[in-house]
Amino acid sequence: MKMIIHGTAYIDGELQNRYIGIKDGKIKFVKKHYKGNEKVKELEEIILPGGIDLHVHFRDPGQTEKEDFFTGSKSAAFGGITAVADMPNNHPPIKTLDNFEKKLEIAKEKSCIDFALYSLIGDEIEDLTERTGIFKIYLSSSTNIGKEISEDGIKKVFENGGKIAFHCEDEQYFGSSSEDLPGYNQFRPPESEVNSIRSLSDLPEGPKRACHVSTKEGLMEAKSQGLAVEVAPHHLFLNEEAFLGGFGKVNPPLRTQDDQIALWESYERGDIEFLASDHAPHLENEKTEFVDAPPGIPGVETMYPLLLNSVSMGNISLSTVIETIAERPAEYLNVKKGKIKEGYDADLVMVDFRRIESIKRENLHSKAGWSPFEGFNAVFPIHVMSRGEYLIKDNEFIGEKGRGEFISAKI
Ligand code: DOR
Ligand code: ZN
Ligand code: ZN
Repeated sequence: MKMIIHGTAYIDGELQNRYIGIKDGKIKFVKKHYKGNEKVKELEEIILPGGIDLHVHFRDPGQTEKEDFFTGSKSAAFGGITAVADMPNNHPPIKTLDNFEKKLEIAKEKSCIDFALYSLIGDEIEDLTERTGIFKIYLSSSTNIGKEISEDGIKKVFENGGKIAFHCEDEQYFGSSSEDLPGYNQFRPPESEVNSIRSLSDLPEGPKRACHVSTKEGLMEAKSQGLAVEVAPHHLFLNEEAFLGGFGKVNPPLRTQDDQIALWESYERGDIEFLASDHAPHLENEKTEFVDAPPGIPGVETMYPLLLNSVSMGNISLSTVIETIAERPAEYLNVKKGKIKEGYDADLVMVDFRRIESIKRENLHSKAGWSPFEGFNAVFPIHVMSRGEYLIKDNEFIGEKGRGEFISAKI
C-alpha cells in the first residue's frame, strides 16, 4: 500500500472514522479497523471527496493573458477542485476534431488536475462524441461565440451517447443596454432565460443540462421538463444589489434577492443537480468600465470553500454540497471519482471547518487577479490530493504541471 490515512471522512453520506488505503492513485480500501503494520498517517482534518467543476473557461488556447490551463487548474486545486470540464468558446472555437485535438495537447501539457473538454456542435459529430462525449450549445451569443443550433447535430450527439449543456438566454427578450447591475438584469431579463429553457423541450430528447440557471421561473421551467439543473455560486451568493459594477457583470446576469432566495430554497430541497463555477476570468482593467466590461466572473477556486463555509454556518447540508459538487458531476463524466470508496480515484480534500478565512484576492491563483467574493468567509482546504498525489500540502502547491489526465465522458 502506498499510503494509509486515518481520520474522519465523508463516506456513504456521513462523516465516519475510517482507515483509507491508497495505491496506484486509487482507493484500495476503506476500513473501520486496520491491523497491518504499515505506517498510518493520522489526519486531524476532515477528509472529503475532491470537487469536480463541470463548467470552467480556462481560455486556453487563445486568451492565455486571462488564464491558461496551468493557472486555471492550479487555482482549481487550491479550491479543492480535482477535475474540471472546460468550455469550448476558445479562440479558435472548439468545433472541429482538429481544434479539439490541439486543445487536448495543450491541456495535457499544462493541467495539474484531470480534465474533460466540451466541444461545440460542428461537422465531425460522431468522432467528437467518441472523443469527448460532452457538448455545449449557446442559445444566445456570449464571449467569443454566436447562437447556433442544429437539431440534426443534437440528434447525432444523443444517438452516439453524448450529453449537451445549454447556455439558456433568448435574445428576443433582450432590452436595451444598461450601465449598472439592476439595469443589466433588465437588459437580459428573467423571461429571456425562462423562454430559452422552455425552447429546450422542442429539441430532440436526450441528456440535456441547463447551465447556470439564475431565476426562480427558470428553475421551475427546467424542473417541469426534468432537465438537469446547474447553478453557479455567483447566483447563490450575489445579487443585482451588489456594489460590484462591471465586476459583477455576467451572463446570465446577477438577479434579484428574491431569485437568490429561491435558488437557495431549491438547493436545500435537493432540486439542483450540479453546482459549477462558470469560472470566466477576465482581467481587472477590462472590468472597470461597466458598459465595455466583458461578462464573466472567476470562481473555480472559491466555489467549494464558500459552500463549505455555508455548511459550517448550518445553511446547507454537507451531503447536498458533496452530491452537487462531487458525486453527480463524477457520474456525469462517467468517472470513478467523487466518492471515498474502494476502486475510486483517490481525489481527496482535507479541511478544518474551524479554519474560516475571509477571501482575499492576493491569496487566489487565477490570472484574473480579482474576485467578487472578497471579504466572504470560506473554508479552504489544507491538503488536496489527486489520484493519490498531493497537489496542495499545508496550503502550499506541490502539484506538477502536465500531470492531469484527460477524461472522456462518452458512455
Ligand atoms: O458571463 C459569461 N462569461 N457567460 C458566458 O456564457 C461566457 C463566459 C465567458 O466565457 O466569459
Ligand atoms: Zn454560459
Ligand atoms: Zn460559461
